[in-house]
Amino acid sequence: MRIPDRPIWIDGRLCRGEAAVLSLFDRGARDGEGLFETLRVYRGRPFQWERHLERLVVSAAELGFPVPPPPSTLLGAAEEVLASGGLLDAVIRVTVTRGIPGRRPGRCGCWVDAEPLGSRLWRGARSGSAAAIFSRRAFHPGSLGRHKTTSRLIYHLARDEGRAAGADEALLVTAEGAALEGTSSNLFVVIGGEVLTPPLSAGILPGITRALVLSACAELGIPARECALPREQVVGADEVFLTSSAQEVVPLSRVDGREIPERSVGVRLLEAYGGSVAATV
Ligand SMILES: Cc1ncc(COP(=O)(O)O)c(C=O)c1O
Repeated sequence: MRIPDRPIWIDGRLCRGEAAVLSLFDRGARDGEGLFETLRVYRGRPFQWERHLERLVVSAAELGFPVPPPPSTLLGAAEEVLASGGLLDAVIRVTVTRGIPGRRPGRCGCWVDAEPLGSRLWRGARSGSAAAIFSRRAFHPGSLGRHKTTSRLIYHLARDEGRAAGADEALLVTAEGAALEGTSSNLFVVIGGEVLTPPLSAGILPGITRALVLSACAELGIPARECALPREQVVGADEVFLTSSAQEVVPLSRVDGREIPERSVGVRLLEAYGGSVAATV
């Protein structure tokens, strides 16, 4: 595979291809000590930029990272990357690392890159028949699950299981059988007209799309609450849908080979989400 030639902003400079490098002494490169945000760009404008940056900065502070560049610098970097790549509908990623140990003053490593949307969308999200499987690898998010860290191995191994099974996403399940979230998405089911989603207290990522969907439920008068979801309840649900900034709201047609009968609540929430995108960007 060729090294991608797209423009990447690294620690203040725009570079491409072989020139896009991070020091091997950086803790992000050595040990996966990094945090990132992935957000959607509509018509050249990043959506929910402030909320994503807030999650990044709060996690960085909580985990003792050097202070990341100011959000205005990162927004300038994002705009530079988008303009230089000629990208209007895209997914942008902002990454910060714990930097090089011993460096004084402490400075985090930082890069911003973007990809055209088409390369990121799930096949099933495009065709309207998305599918998920349950990962067979027991998942316990621990104390880091609520931070969006670059230590992605556990998520990527599960994602690969999903891809090998021809699914768009793999759902992460504890050893006790509680379904928690997808490898890059939050999980919702609809049972008897009520929208249910696993609680943040389970250690899952506090998804920004999850929060927007819960607000949309309140506005539309759709009953919604957090509750533990045993995997049997997911396969037996009337509807199952996943949310993420990149994919938006994705009603599932199949979970672990079982057909999911309904999708109307998910579609309604997807439309509401589209409405808030249109009103903001
Ligand atoms: C593990 C995990 N859960 C949930 C999400 C969805 O979060 P958001 O809606 O903020 O994109 C992601 C996003 O990548 C994720 O990696």
